[in-house]
Amino acid sequence: MKLSLLPLSVASLLTLASCATEKQTPTLKDHFADDFLIGAAINMNHVKGLDPGSDSIVRRHFNSIVAENCMKCEEIHPAEGTYFWDDADAFVDYGVRNNMAIIGHTLIWHSQLAPWFPVDSTGAYVSADVLKERMRDHITTVMTRYKGKIKGWDVVNEAIEGDGSYRKSPFYEILGEEFIPLAFQYAHEADPDAELYINDYGMNMPAKREAYVRLVNDMKSKGLRVDAIGMQSHMGMDYPDFKEFEESIEAFASTGCNVMITEWDMSALPTISRSANVSDSVVYNTLFNPYPDGLPADIADRWNSRMDSVTDIFLRHKDVITRVTAWGTHDGMSWKNDFPMKGRVEYPLLFDRDCNLKPFMQNRLDNASDRQI
Ligand code: G3I
Repeated sequence: MKLSLLPLSVASLLTLASCATEKQTPTLKDHFADDFLIGAAINMNHVKGLDPGSDSIVRRHFNSIVAENCMKCEEIHPAEGTYFWDDADAFVDYGVRNNMAIIGHTLIWHSQLAPWFPVDSTGAYVSADVLKERMRDHITTVMTRYKGKIKGWDVVNEAIEGDGSYRKSPFYEILGEEFIPLAFQYAHEADPDAELYINDYGMNMPAKREAYVRLVNDMKSKGLRVDAIGMQSHMGMDYPDFKEFEESIEAFASTGCNVMITEWDMSALPTISRSANVSDSVVYNTLFNPYPDGLPADIADRWNSRMDSVTDIFLRHKDVITRVTAWGTHDGMSWKNDFPMKGRVEYPLLFDRDCNLKPFMQNRLDNASDRQI
């Protein structure tokens, strides 16, 4: 059939032009190509096409993805001997289809742990041997299924408290400190080629930093594989102290591990103290959800400036930072909305609710492309 070239309408010409322009618009993964992987946590809305804005952002701007929830124990292993693979399979397939570095999150974590995992039929903690076997089965079954597709795993998440002590999780209560090296041993046996990470928040805190340096040095001295220390990097307008944060990057790198920024976001709202009486509606509406309809310009400027400073820190340490992952794509999908109370509207991510890149980052891309022309 002879295809005649249809006269292009003005609209088609404009679309072609905009697509062409879009192709020339720099992307995050191009901008940071020589620095570190850049990625985001994605959820099933992205994967199932229910959030086309996020899908477009992920495919254009990122070269790495991490599972926000679908690989957590309560989701993927809801009952003993019963695994739910559909969502995790869809997540991995999405990453493979889009040629992404895929990160598994997370194998051993006290939160979103399937309720059955640490207890027997009476609700009492199982024995050390039973828990070891359950950990080995979980880690081996999950990692084996995705062998060769997952670049690396958050093997253990949030195991140390801010004062450097071990979190009194069921894993610690039953196995003591041993649960962490055991998890890494099982993970390496399950997939010898996968990278293995230990991950936590508040990693700027000196006591926590020192505890992880001791722990990782000890595991490595015993011949265990630990490829990176993950700094979740959930930030606010008044935390973390940047000097402490950088000292942690340097301390973690001193173990010989890479450093990964694994869950980066920055709250633009007032930090709520743990003791805050968030059920008080007056307090809620004024103090803790002050910008339900958008950030005032001065707050947005301060947020952008602070995020720009953090980006400078990442680039200063790009010799040891191998991945920067935001914990989400655009503000509308962030876990920080409705946290810690329903209805709270947050603005913590790299893209706004209209899927526009935030000014601090757009300026970096524009200035870089200016330099290249
Ligand atoms: O799947 C259920 C659904 O069936 C139910 O209808 C719905 C309403 O109750 O809840 C759904 O589960 C929610 C789950 O996300 C999946 O959407 C949980 O309630 C909700 O608490 C859970 O929140 C996740 C949170 O971890 C739990 O601690 C966030 O999406 C996720 O972004 C967040 O991520 C964690 C990292 O894994 C570890 N570091 C901290 C980070 C932020 O908390």
